[in-house]
This record gives sequence, structure tokens and C-alpha cells, in this order.
Amino acid sequence: MAEVKFFGGENVPLEMHKVRIVQKLTLPPVERRLAAITEAGNNTFLLRNSDVFMDMLTDSGVNAMSDQQQAAMLIADDSYAGSATYTRLASKLEDIFGMPYFLPAHQGRACENILSQVLVSKGSVVPMNYHFTTTKAHITLNGGTVEELVADSGLEVVSVHPFKGNMDTGKLRDVIGLHGADKIAFVRMEAGTNLIGGQPFSLQNLVDIRKICTEHGLLLVLDASLLADNLHFIKQREADCKTLAIREITRRIADQCDIIYFSARKLGCARGGGICIRSEELYRRMRGLVPLYEGFLTYGGMSVREMEALTVGLEETMDEDVINQGPQFIAYMVDELQKRDIPVITPAGGLGCHVNAMKFVDHIPQAEYPAGALASALYIASGIRGMERGTLSEQREPDGREIFANMELVRLAMPRRVFTLSQVKYAIDRLEWLYAHRRLIGGLAFTEEPEILRFFYGRLTPVSDWQEKLVAKFRADLGESL
Ligand code: F0G
Repeated sequence: MAEVKFFGGENVPLEMHKVRIVQKLTLPPVERRLAAITEAGNNTFLLRNSDVFMDMLTDSGVNAMSDQQQAAMLIADDSYAGSATYTRLASKLEDIFGMPYFLPAHQGRACENILSQVLVSKGSVVPMNYHFTTTKAHITLNGGTVEELVADSGLEVVSVHPFKGNMDTGKLRDVIGLHGADKIAFVRMEAGTNLIGGQPFSLQNLVDIRKICTEHGLLLVLDASLLADNLHFIKQREADCKTLAIREITRRIADQCDIIYFSARKLGCARGGGICIRSEELYRRMRGLVPLYEGFLTYGGMSVREMEALTVGLEETMDEDVINQGPQFIAYMVDELQKRDIPVITPAGGLGCHVNAMKFVDHIPQAEYPAGALASALYIASGIRGMERGTLSEQREPDGREIFANMELVRLAMPRRVFTLSQVKYAIDRLEWLYAHRRLIGGLAFTEEPEILRFFYGRLTPVSDWQEKLVAKFRADLGESL
């Protein structure tokens, strides 16, 4: 928790920044919230932000920028080719990761498109600690399959394991043995494993995976979108790294990898993405796709202003006082929810607080999307927009069967330095109210189901009139309160 001790003994995170630009929020009354979520097809992606009080959908592209980032945007060199802004960004990335080649892209999934088109073909296998939605979609689109090799401890919802994002090295050896190294397009490690609760891997695990990759001549690709949180946890939890600076830990991670790609909507707190590459041969193979899908090689679909902000944001990621804020606020929220017996993923990870819907609404079968139902109910109860990360976020098998997710989570993202402690307390309070009335929450059914990435714009309806009952209970308990 915060390194500043409160004389009164209270254990709260302390903001190491001050707020100099504010955005007014509105909290619509509960009846309007019911109407809004109905209009949105019970999909929090489809809510209008003007109906949202706390937007905890994601941290993607909504982190607060620093004054230094804003200032840097003013000196952006707006040229199509050969921009000085590109040179500054590419140099910063080389300085941090030590890889000589960089390809810019408009966001993380664009990097995944390029990587998958070049490295994945029909019959390819991509072992990874855990998939991310867009990653898996691009790999399967190119004819490959994903093998999830997270250690079993990673899927234990309640745990004290410090590195639940670790890959099981035994499973990796088995997969290589089963398919043969020539079938494996690359091995992917995801920092701050998104879909299992923002859980980190350890540096030691990455070193072990690298060893296996080297033995079999395999490429090791790091998805560094959530690297900032992972760095914080390595520094906090890995004995061998306690005395290392964040910059040194970063370089040791990078040294294990052949390719590092990232969403700059997360890493560096701007909007964009990119691929850092060690080998010239790989760089040349991927390069041609950048002008085709993204933009010229010196901007790749990004605004030059965002690129300047990203350059500064990457440097700020090397500052422990900057990257510890998110995890500290998340830890506070997770601790407080646990005190109220509300089921959450532990230990607290990065990205956000992950509520365990499988347990919160254990009366809702997975076929009725418990995490989606809980996200809808929480919006009605609070105006807080979270994100379903469960079966709804999966894709059906080609024959139409549902793939039930390992975990049914509602993710309440904590974008960097956006929310104050009293807002976090409000979220905790409304979750407490909802937990007390959890039996009122019912399931959802699709009315419109897209085939690919259905969670983004699919529409659902409640299986009964449970939402009206929830609103009535809110009014009975909380009177005229918003
Ligand atoms: N990889 C990881 C681990 C991610 O979390 C994301 C995005 C991407 C890749 C894709 O990057 O959005 O820039 O195209 N995660 C966002 C989220 C969408 O809300 O967690 P992108």
C-alpha cells in the first residue's frame, strides 16, 4: 500500500499527483439507468458515455495524461514521412527495450493483425500464457489455433500466488512435443494477463520460457500492453528484483524477447501502438503491411501528437511513483470488497478490480451470461460501467456450441489517475448494496449475436422482469438518492 504512513492508522492509497483539468460527470437517476441499459441491449459497450457516472469499462485510451505529455503534443512534427516525432518515439523505444527496429500501428490489435498475417498460417499453433480477445481472433482468422498454457494456479480465483500470469513450462514442452516446433508460429507471453484478472508473470518465468524457445528455435513475442502493472508487481513481489530499478527490470524482460508489441492506449497512456523487433529479417517481413493497413512507416495510423505523448508516457512508465498508483487503488478496492465478503479475484492485480460473477450470482447458469448480467445490474444500481469478461467475450465453436469461459468476471477498470478515492468508495458501496440483493439479478439472452467479437456490439435481453424489481428495491432502500 502507500509508502506514506497515516498517523491515524488508516490504510489508504495517496495520490502522488494533483488534478489540474477536470471533466464534469452526471449521474442519471436509476429509472433512466434502466432505460439506458435497455436501449444498449444490456451491453455496456453500447451505453452512451453521457449516461455513465464512472466509466470503468476499460483503461484503454482513457488514462489521464500528464502535463508533460500534453506539453509534448505541441511540438509534434506533422509530416507524412520522416517526421522528427517518429525519430523521438523510435529512439525512446530503443532506449527502453534495446531493440533496433520499430513499426508503428494505430493500436494493439493492428500489431496483432500484422504479426498474425506474417507469422501464422493454416495449421499453426500459438502457445501463450493466456489469450486476449483480439489476439485470438487474429490468430484464428489466419488459420492458427491458440494453446493456453497458464499455470493451473493462474485460474484459481482466490489465491495468494504472486504471479498468476506465469506460463507452465511443462505444458509448453508438452505442446512443442505434441505439435512439433515447426508448427509453432511463436510463443506469446502477455504481461499483466488481461482476461484472468490483470495478473503478472515473473521475470524468472519469462527467463525459463526463453530457454525453452531457444532450445527449439522458437520466437518469443511479448504483448506489453499491460507491462506497466507487471513491472510494478515484479518489483514488489519478486525477491531477486527488489533492488532493481524499473528501467533495469524492463530491459531484462525485453532481453528475453524477439518481438515486443503493445497497445499504446494502455502502455504509455496515449493512443496508438507498435511493434519492436530485434531481427532485421523479421522487420523486413512485417514492414510492407504497415503502409497497407496503417499508414506510412513514420506514423502508422497514429496522430503525431499522440506519438509525442506516447514518447513521454513511455519514459513516465519507468517511474515507480507513476506506475504504482493504479495497482494501489485496485488493491484498496479489492481489500474493501473482501472485507464485505464480495467475491473478487485475488491477489489484486493490475488493470482493474475483477468481480467474480460465477460466485456473486451463482444462481445464474453460464448459458445465461452471469458476468454480463452482473455488469448490467451494476450499471442500473450505480451508473458505473464495467466490462463483461466471461462467456459473452468468447466465440462459439463453428458448430454453434458455446465455449464456457474459465472465469466469469466483471472488470471494473481503474484508468491511471482518473478516479478519486471517494469515487472508488462509491463503487464499493453500490457493489455492497447489489451483493445484498444479488438474488434479484437474473440472466440474459441474446437478441442479436454477431459471429466475431460478439461482446462488442451484440444485444441481449433479460430473461425475466428482474431489472424492474431491482429498480424498485433500489428506490425502497435508497429513497430519492441518485
Ligand atoms: N493485448 C492486450 C493484453 C490488451 O489488453 C489489448 C486491449 C490489446 C492487446 C489490443 O489493443 O485495444 O489497442 O487494439 N485491451 C483493451 C481492454 C481493449 O479494454 O482491455 P488495442
